[in-house]
Amino acid sequence: MEPLLVLDAVDKHFGELHVLKSISTTVAPGEVVVVIGPSGSGKSTLCRAINRLETIDAGRILIDGVPLPEEGRALAKLRADVGMVFQSFNLFAHKTVLENVTLGPIRVRGKSAAEAKKRGMELLDRVGVANQADKMPAQLSGGQQQRVAIARSLAMEPKLMLFDEPTSALDPEMINEVLDVMVGLAKDGVTMIVVTHEMGFARKAADRVLFMADGALVEEATPENFFTKPSSDRAKDFLSKILTH
Ligand SMILES: Nc1ncnc2c1ncn2[C@@H]1O[C@H](COP(=O)(O)OP(=O)(O)O)[C@@H](O)[C@H]1O
Ligand SMILES: [Mg+2]
Repeated sequence: MEPLLVLDAVDKHFGELHVLKSISTTVAPGEVVVVIGPSGSGKSTLCRAINRLETIDAGRILIDGVPLPEEGRALAKLRADVGMVFQSFNLFAHKTVLENVTLGPIRVRGKSAAEAKKRGMELLDRVGVANQADKMPAQLSGGQQQRVAIARSLAMEPKLMLFDEPTSALDPEMINEVLDVMVGLAKDGVTMIVVTHEMGFARKAADRVLFMADGALVEEATPENFFTKPSSDRAKDFLSKILTH
């Protein structure tokens, strides 16, 4: 199968800092890839490069065989094709939950209000917050807000969903309600790249784990192999730290 995403020797500096060091990998349609690694290893920069919130210095990023556009309408289209859910729930504070989910499809995808609303309610139902549709984001818990953020991304019918530590700002009791939604998406065949330290999610949903350290892609393995027999010392050291607390 043709890969949905190709990263080919992707390189990026922030001044002196070499933040992405010749990263190469591919993601197939329907694949779920978990990216794991110490803070500062370049995971967020990699996600941001994939929807071109950051430029790269060298290498290529292709989606469906097409290099990322530089600017203009093609870039807007790319942003719509690549959904992104961040750590902080960046919902529009002055719009209702349902409006948050329907705005993009109406403005960017050219859907009718009725169509967007119907689809929006289906997606809110899918993430378990349909009964909150008319509330304002601030009236929802963090876990509910993050589920709305996921529904909002899905409403754009993206080819690829990026999640950058989507549960790390949540109170512990809300983490699973968000992870459960993500496991459901994975089962439904949504192509996902997920930066997370949630081992349970990786074991349940990931096809592959990418381990990054110091800007390099150090290891790629199945979750089973990565967690039970990591091959690099960097990964062993990292896992010993996160698994013992
Ligand atoms: N806009 C920026 N300007 C300069 N340095 C940055 C910028 N964004 C991130 N960095 C640095 O790049 C490195 C990788 O950051 P990041 O991709 O956020 O790592 P991670 O998500 O793995 O914690 C870090 O050292 C960080 O301080
Ligand atoms: Mg990060």
